[in-house]
Amino acid sequence: MALLCVAACSEIAPIRPYTEVHAGDGPHPGYLTALRTREGVGKYYLGREIAHYMSHQGASWLERPERAKEEHPDLLMTALALKQGDVVVDMGCGTGYYSWRVAERVGAQGKVLGVDIQPEMLALWAKNMAARNLLNVEAVLGTTTDPRLPAESVDLMLLVDVYHEFDHPFEMTRAMIRALKPGGRIVMVEYRLEDTRLPISTAHKMSEAQIKKEMAVHPVVWVETNHALPWQHMVIFRKQ
Ligand SMILES: C[S@@+](CC[C@H](N)C(=O)[O-])C[C@H]1O[C@@H](n2cnc3c(N)ncnc32)[C@H](O)[C@@H]1O
Repeated sequence: MALLCVAACSEIAPIRPYTEVHAGDGPHPGYLTALRTREGVGKYYLGREIAHYMSHQGASWLERPERAKEEHPDLLMTALALKQGDVVVDMGCGTGYYSWRVAERVGAQGKVLGVDIQPEMLALWAKNMAARNLLNVEAVLGTTTDPRLPAESVDLMLLVDVYHEFDHPFEMTRAMIRALKPGGRIVMVEYRLEDTRLPISTAHKMSEAQIKKEMAVHPVVWVETNHALPWQHMVIFRKQ
């Protein structure tokens, strides 16, 4: 019954253009409360149940040795085409599995801002950055609606396995876009929902179509979807 409500209510509240929903700072009308699954929070956005955020108590999973084989971070780095001097946000940075790789590529003139909502995650992140003697990194404690970033200051917003956990995806995306320089990119890296063989629960995967649907209400254009990674797709958008 509740699931039926999700489908029906999505139709009642269709995606509205950014210019309509951007008026004021109110929440997006696409949010609904319905059936809560084991991995989800029972809050739905444009037909998708939002996942529980990953607790810092499970942080060792982010540094598991087999992760390199499953995700090929080297391929992701190549696809990002980073330049020396770039300012990059590792949004929902966790322990910094991707932050240090980006920091090495953007060089001393560039910068990586690691944003997370859990101070415990940021403490682990800082320890990992210090162990690699990285000086071009900075931790930022955000909230679930505000990443606390200066306007038009960021070249690339990287989200690996994070966006599906945002409990306010509309507000977070609006704030991320404000922080991007004109022409800056948002790269969403999510486990593919389309791949039923992946050992990842449904709430922690996203389809390419759903990502595009959720971004369609914002002032960004889709650039490409890169399929080079074994488990994830990289869906790339540019600020208009
Ligand atoms: C599954 S972990 C991924 C960590 C890292 N990106 C990686 O790939 O190793 C998701 C992280 O996103 C963070 N997160 C969830 N919601 C967030 C939000 N609204 N803003 C910033 N970080 C958030 C969680 O605290 C957690 O550290």
